[in-house]
Amino acid sequence: MRHWTQIELLAELEPVVARELDRHLGAAREWFPHEYVPWSEGRNFDGVLGGDAWDPSQSRVSDVARTALVVNLLTEDNLPSYHRDIYESFGADGAWGTWIGRWTAEEGRHGMAIRDYLLTTRAVDPVALERERMGHMTQGFASPYELDVLHTVAYVSFQELATRISHRNTGRHTHDPMCEQLLTRIAQDENLHMVFYRNVLAAALELAPDETMQAVWDVVSTFQMPGNTIDGFTRRSVQIAMAGIYDLRIHRDEVLAPVLRSWGVWDRGGLSSEGEQAREKLGSHFEELDRQAARFEERRAARQTRAAEVS
Ligand SMILES: [Fe+2]
Ligand SMILES: [Fe+2]
Repeated sequence: MRHWTQIELLAELEPVVARELDRHLGAAREWFPHEYVPWSEGRNFDGVLGGDAWDPSQSRVSDVARTALVVNLLTEDNLPSYHRDIYESFGADGAWGTWIGRWTAEEGRHGMAIRDYLLTTRAVDPVALERERMGHMTQGFASPYELDVLHTVAYVSFQELATRISHRNTGRHTHDPMCEQLLTRIAQDENLHMVFYRNVLAAALELAPDETMQAVWDVVSTFQMPGNTIDGFTRRSVQIAMAGIYDLRIHRDEVLAPVLRSWGVWDRGGLSSEGEQAREKLGSHFEELDRQAARFEERRAARQTRAAEVS
């Protein structure tokens, strides 16, 4: 198995990044967060301007939608942490650097747009939100695997799709058409990000199949949602999973499966024994995820039946 250095990989993949950047810029449509926020619904808060304090009764979204909105927003807020990881993995040279700048600017508007929306419509507690943002960003996000180009591109390929689906499903759960419209727009950005990274990783698989397969295995087997360092993340993600906004079934079937399939992971040739081993582990893990997802779905269905009987 040939060993590729980071510098070689970055140089070899640079033309692909340049091509994908062009494709991205051609496909992305300019949009303006301010158009999505119903500013006329807003009013002053208590404190400096002496307005009205926030009260849960002012929120028109359900408890679980609120949880998902806050988790999604805190995740977007933590952009500097992800930017740091990506910058360390890719560096600032050439098309890689241009992409990082563009990606960061697009991600930046997601947090701004969601915050403007939630505060204007008084959907969430602004004090709790700000305290959480401070805590979450202070803690930052540290990737659980090596910060190299292959692991990072593999991670963000899945993470962008996970974020896309999470925004879309959260939007539906708000039962607030304006909020859903905003989250749908953001989800379109996430989709283009996913396509970018997915295509870069596809090229890496051609170039360095064994190392890339190993990176894919590492990332899939240790995958954590961005935002997993948010306080109470486990409790909140259970709530989000119980509502079907994002659960293991969605993660396996709608995030991992389509991306792995598009890379031809299951049937590609040209792997050495190391690459083959990584693929086999990936295959068994994928079956195990299926079993775990089925068990969760059964538990959830049983709990919903019990809840329906009680009420
Ligand atoms: Fe985003
Ligand atoms: Fe994104």
